[in-house]
Amino acid sequence: QSSNVDDTINPFRNPESEFSVNARKGSNLVNKRRLHREQTQRAKEKTAVEGTKIGDALGLDKENNQEQIPTKQSNNKNKSNYKEDINATRQSLPAYKSRDALLSMIRENQVSIIIGETGSGKTTQLPQYLYEDGFTSNGKIIGVTQPRRVAAMSVAKRVAQEMDVKIKEEVGYTIRFEDFSSSNTKIKFMTDGILLREALLDNDLDKYSCIMIDEAHERTLNTDVMLGILKDLLQRRKDLKLIITSATMNAMKFSKFFGNAPQFTIPGRTFPVEINYSKHPVSDYVEAAVKQAVNIHMSTSIQSGDILIFMTGQEDVEVTTDTIRERLLELYRKKGDFTSPNDDLEDIEIYPIYSALAPEFQNRIFRKLDISKRKIVIATNIAETSLTIDGIRYVIDCGYSKLKVYNPRIGLDALATTPISLANANQRSGRAGRTAPGVAYRLYTEESVENDMYTSTIPEIQRTNLSNTVLLLKSLGIKNVLCFPFIDMPPIQTLLSSLYELWSIGAIDNFGELTKLGTEMSKLPLQPSLSKILLKSVEFGCSAEMLIIVSMLSIPQIFQRPKGREKESDKERSRFFIAGSDHLTLLNVYLQWKSNRFSTKWCTKCFIQSRSLSKAEDIRKQLLRVMESQNIQLKSIGSNWDVIRHCICTGFSHQAAKLSGLKRYVHLRTGMHTQIHPTSALFGMGDLPPYVIYNELLMTSSEYLVCVTAVDPFWLMESSLLMYDIKKQNAENEYSTGIFGNNSNVKANKFEFEGARKLVSEKLD
Ligand code: CDP
Ligand code: MG
Repeated sequence: QSSNVDDTINPFRNPESEFSVNARKGSNLVNKRRLHREQTQRAKEKTAVEGTKIGDALGLDKENNQEQIPTKQSNNKNKSNYKEDINATRQSLPAYKSRDALLSMIRENQVSIIIGETGSGKTTQLPQYLYEDGFTSNGKIIGVTQPRRVAAMSVAKRVAQEMDVKIKEEVGYTIRFEDFSSSNTKIKFMTDGILLREALLDNDLDKYSCIMIDEAHERTLNTDVMLGILKDLLQRRKDLKLIITSATMNAMKFSKFFGNAPQFTIPGRTFPVEINYSKHPVSDYVEAAVKQAVNIHMSTSIQSGDILIFMTGQEDVEVTTDTIRERLLELYRKKGDFTSPNDDLEDIEIYPIYSALAPEFQNRIFRKLDISKRKIVIATNIAETSLTIDGIRYVIDCGYSKLKVYNPRIGLDALATTPISLANANQRSGRAGRTAPGVAYRLYTEESVENDMYTSTIPEIQRTNLSNTVLLLKSLGIKNVLCFPFIDMPPIQTLLSSLYELWSIGAIDNFGELTKLGTEMSKLPLQPSLSKILLKSVEFGCSAEMLIIVSMLSIPQIFQRPKGREKESDKERSRFFIAGSDHLTLLNVYLQWKSNRFSTKWCTKCFIQSRSLSKAEDIRKQLLRVMESQNIQLKSIGSNWDVIRHCICTGFSHQAAKLSGLKRYVHLRTGMHTQIHPTSALFGMGDLPPYVIYNELLMTSSEYLVCVTAVDPFWLMESSLLMYDIKKQNAENEYSTGIFGNNSNVKANKFEFEGARKLVSEKLD
């Protein structure tokens, strides 16, 4: 599978099988729920609003109301008890028995590969062992990367708790737009993306004595790139220790990549897991999972253990959570367990967990429940290896996960529900046998394992857009990205189309060399297009406004639409609309929020998520700091909206579409048919603008343009002279008439498109 580098790799091993077709069809329950989106929306808003209320009442710092380390530190009476408890727990972990062996291996080798079952203590213990053994005594620190933000945050908190220190002191963490580390920090957890950024600023990563690439088996894009960079760096920094930790899969590959680096397997302590396959293909995996969970709960004793269900993403996790609840309530009622209509499920706690879940809700899954209660956790593959929940005895595996799949021909990253790999399936089942023998229910047939599953997952680098990565490699001084030591080579086609995209926005020149603009772009923690408009905005005199727009684009949907109040909220929302631009609408929301002194009350009144807005403000402040350090000036253009639209166009001319027929747009470069998303400020417009650029393409039942701005066709041509050809249809009307100028016809310039691509690729050969 991995030798196939000329083309993209199909994430479906057997696209026509029933198992694969069902993945694309999705769950009926989820689809139905999507139609009733408002309902879920309302529930979410309710929790969000309640969250704010509780936070307010407790006087919590709004940006930081995460569950902090328990108050045990201030409670001296319990302190010694607490320490004993912690030590006992630490010493009971499998890694503890191997402590000395692990440390001597690390002392003797520059690179060590450490393999261990999930939950054996790799993430939380190894960094502490290194710390205790003096790896930070030379003033340098221990860095630990995680593929997931949630994991970086939660393990840092756990380790701080075990070491009995405050987070941001000896133990800290950094994820994009959130830095909880300080000059006192000795053990620093971070996402793999953060370490990449640091490598850009300090090529030698000098402040680290030891770098641990955790969860390497996940093979995220950033982990793969980091490993390639480290391979070279280790030659220069002989004193740097590299530790690669991995669950029990694909470890041989890392060892080979680092010149046969030694491996150490932490002796496991696992119990047998009985595996049950579905006898027939399952047509609705959510329905099947709900039935199985209800069945287990009703037919086994609560003390026999907790249940973990693997779903694919936020949507099906939520639907599963809600449906299990509904079904159980119904059953209890029927059985006559309830004496009053307000009775609730007393012997069960149902917790969803996914990356986008607010941190204060994420930590709930680790709670120890009363003996009379059972826990059901419904998770995305975040619970596969990065988080360990104790007490799980039953696992239900839907057989799918959401994978980012890139199609370089249309230049589109999309999340697709695809069959998991056999390695994932085994990892999922294994979660049931951590503390005692367990049972795994696989909601697929034994045949689909043979016919539909790859042995291991296709690494992200082979199925994602690489523009950001290529820009990063170029700025690290790597001239020929095709020669970079990738642990698995990405498809050539993807590398070329990334080079093309970078060239088209002016980040690299005709010879594939980084331009001045490209160098500046690589210093901003944003995707290339957003970096470009932020940098260009200085010339346009609107950097203050663009900074707000870019920050607002980095947060999820801000408008709320509660059930029963749709009309009212739509009306409120439309008051913010700026004709022809969602980007400007976002700016407008921010500016009005600001003139209302960042009030939460105002947000609630206007049906706006105040939590998201606060997040945007946080991001804005951090980007401002980056801008100051790069000497990027802050200039305001006031309400000269056209200048701002023009500036946005400079970064998005490769993402442009042209009106074609009633309410339909056709993508200028790919010819794909799309339409404006219903949430857009342009959606209800009687006269749609003839040309638009978009921030994001969403593929659901059809293709939607999300976050759209009307542009003048001449701006498109001007920003991408070689990409587009412009024909004036009406010679008398030489000048366009702003947003609604309909007098020109922009066409993708096929010849130049191919020509430029050739130029770039020839240079690389
Ligand atoms: O990295 P690995 O999977 O080998 O294990 P770990 O994450 O270091 O977990 C070791 C132990 O710490 C497990 O028993 C976890 O349940 C526990 N842990 C926890 O209670 N809370 C966390 N936030 C993280 C880990
Ligand atoms: Mg771990």
